[in-house]
Amino acid sequence: MVTRSLDERTLARWVRAHNRWRGREVFNLLPSENALSATAKRYLASDLAGRYTLPISTTFHGESIDNSYAGTRYTDRIEELGNRVASRIFHGRWATVRPLSGHIAALSAMAPLLPSGAKLLAISPEQGGYDGYAPGFIPALFGWKVRPLPADGPGGSVVADQALEVIRAERPDAVLLGQSFFLFPYPVREIAEETHRWGGLLFYDASHVLGLIAGGVFQDPLREGADLLFGSTHKSFFGPQGGLLVTDREDLFRQIDPALVWRIFDNAHWNRIAALTQTLLEFERVGAEYAQTVVESAQRLARELSDLGWPMVAEPQGFSRSHQIHIDPRRFRERFALGPGELARRLEPQGLILDLVGRIGTAEVTRLGVEPREMGRLAQLLNLGGVERSEVRAEVQRWRSEYPTLRFE
Ligand SMILES: Cc1ncc(COP(=O)(O)O)c(C=O)c1O
Repeated sequence: MVTRSLDERTLARWVRAHNRWRGREVFNLLPSENALSATAKRYLASDLAGRYTLPISTTFHGESIDNSYAGTRYTDRIEELGNRVASRIFHGRWATVRPLSGHIAALSAMAPLLPSGAKLLAISPEQGGYDGYAPGFIPALFGWKVRPLPADGPGGSVVADQALEVIRAERPDAVLLGQSFFLFPYPVREIAEETHRWGGLLFYDASHVLGLIAGGVFQDPLREGADLLFGSTHKSFFGPQGGLLVTDREDLFRQIDPALVWRIFDNAHWNRIAALTQTLLEFERVGAEYAQTVVESAQRLARELSDLGWPMVAEPQGFSRSHQIHIDPRRFRERFALGPGELARRLEPQGLILDLVGRIGTAEVTRLGVEPREMGRLAQLLNLGGVERSEVRAEVQRWRSEYPTLRFE
């Protein structure tokens, strides 16, 4: 009999408590997260979690080898299946499911293709862009210069004319589309044409909208002209934390794929890759209906909140075409003397999890089975618990308990 230390028992208690709380007692409205299927969770906790494979050709003491490890017959097949299904879903002939996260997928794509001193156009964080692309972060590692791609439409969306003008003026080595605050599809076709005219590459960071692209309800970046699509696999796409990368351009893939090992990372995580492959297959079964429902619920929730007096971004444009909706922080504060941070802090003990920057997401609640017609009820609870400060916890728990399993699995 093993006697576990006090710290081990404490840790076990925390993990159990977290799983009960975040997995069963609350509605998660973070647009950056989602719920995993039981099968994907099983694969994450499988023997694959501790294994190595390094399928790269090298020589060791004069002997050529194509993998530094034996015992990889199943990991190799799992990876090949994952890549094949990712290619199928995102419409590019070349794919890799190895990147360890969305951020690492971006590094994996850009580092081998852009020389030091390259000029990059990306949406700035002030306009909803991803902080990792701001000058002090990824670009600082490689000496890339970043200029802002204008995104001053509603909710930070990109207006074609303004973007094309900046691309013409700057002639960048690469244009990077993709945002953390992401409401509307981009004019990818026009941006691709203009970028290519000046010899640049078009990258599409689909971290937030990957599940909507997979479900066919947002846009199809590679078919519309983007050179590379990459991103996180755990936001609107309901897979494990991780990343993937897809392209239709063999020339680019031949530069990216060999650079993954030993430049970006060494071993990939095979349990994650099995869970991701499972999720890709789940998407082929249920992704279209899931994605359609996510967007419909986002639009309905924004409408209901607006009817309760919440100032929401992009109302004249229908609020959103993604899994996110945005509170307008300035008008919200004027109206309720309350910022999105304080709102989220008030709602957490009531069982409603929001981020502290004013985004609300409908991906995870949709996966559970909450339907668009129930968005009025959800809006009421958000308003009562956040603005009016009533006790809504018992009602949230009762409602949450109606979803012991996932509807879209
Ligand atoms: C647009 C965008 N790209 C990349 C990332 C990084 O993703 P990850 O956390 O998977 O590394 C994020 C994170 O939220 C993001 O919003």
